[in-house]
Amino acid sequence: MTSSPRHFLDLWRMESADLRAILDDARTRKAARAGWTQGRVDSDAPARDRVLAMIFEKHSTRTRFSFDAAMRQLGGDVIISTSADMQLGRGEPIEDTAKVLSRMVDAIMIRANTHEDVERLALASTVPVINGLTDKSHPCQILADLLTFEEHLGPVKGRTLAWVGDGNNVCASFIHAAGKFGFKLNIACPTVYHPDLTDLARASEMQGQVTMTEDPRAAVRGADCVITDTWVSMGDTDHDARLAAFEPYQVDDELMDLAAKDGIFLHCLPAHRGEEVTDAVMDGPRSKIWDEAENRIHAQKSILAWCFGAI
Ligand code: CP
Ligand code: NVA
Repeated sequence: MTSSPRHFLDLWRMESADLRAILDDARTRKAARAGWTQGRVDSDAPARDRVLAMIFEKHSTRTRFSFDAAMRQLGGDVIISTSADMQLGRGEPIEDTAKVLSRMVDAIMIRANTHEDVERLALASTVPVINGLTDKSHPCQILADLLTFEEHLGPVKGRTLAWVGDGNNVCASFIHAAGKFGFKLNIACPTVYHPDLTDLARASEMQGQVTMTEDPRAAVRGADCVITDTWVSMGDTDHDARLAAFEPYQVDDELMDLAAKDGIFLHCLPAHRGEEVTDAVMDGPRSKIWDEAENRIHAQKSILAWCFGAI
């Protein structure tokens, strides 16, 4: 009997020890290739002779390039397609797609409109499936963010992170991560744009580790890290209502001044400068967003290595 594939679907499903091992591997791999050109293959090449399929139902810059670069650095290869270019886009069942691709590649990364589709793909796939963002979560992003946090501020366990803005897919994965990595998460969002109810239930089980407020100042006060994201995610249709509701949630220098003295700013990008964050914060000394973007490669290399059983 073959063992079930190591899917990377959501942080709440993962073992804390595996997540810690992935993050530690990412830090070690990144350090080992300091000064190397981007295309040079890591000495252990854990993805040698392996191919990753990438399916995109939504736009992407960072996820697309970082997974491609990651596979090259691990010694493997990729096949990339939008769902519109596949029969999937013409209604071929996602389970059938999973079965076909499982005969052709060694792992599948998908960015999907609906989370359920990723779950269905994984159920039918005999190779690992990685969630590259859905309407419900963005787990790869959060590992890059935590790698960035720890590079600048040390272990995240016991520290305080503040999420300001939309209770969206990225926020959801931070809720999942809080339980696994043991950090405190203060969420400030308008009540109407609260996180998904299942995630709020998860948060309430964490006994005070995740707090909710409508007041961004209360959430940010003393925090080690302030994080925000677009007010209008891919697939959201209520653009004008969102911009109005989120206006008091812009991250500016005045808000950042309430954070810890050495507090940092993170944003998964793409950012809408002048909406959820000012230019001054984006380009200021507390912003670590370019490290964060680069760390998508390093974190995902270790996610892939874990999926391939090399961690
Ligand atoms: N942060 C992130 O996932 O960026 P892309 O949408 O460009 O992939
Ligand atoms: N919340 C954003 C993240 C983009 C990386 C979206 O889903 O569009």
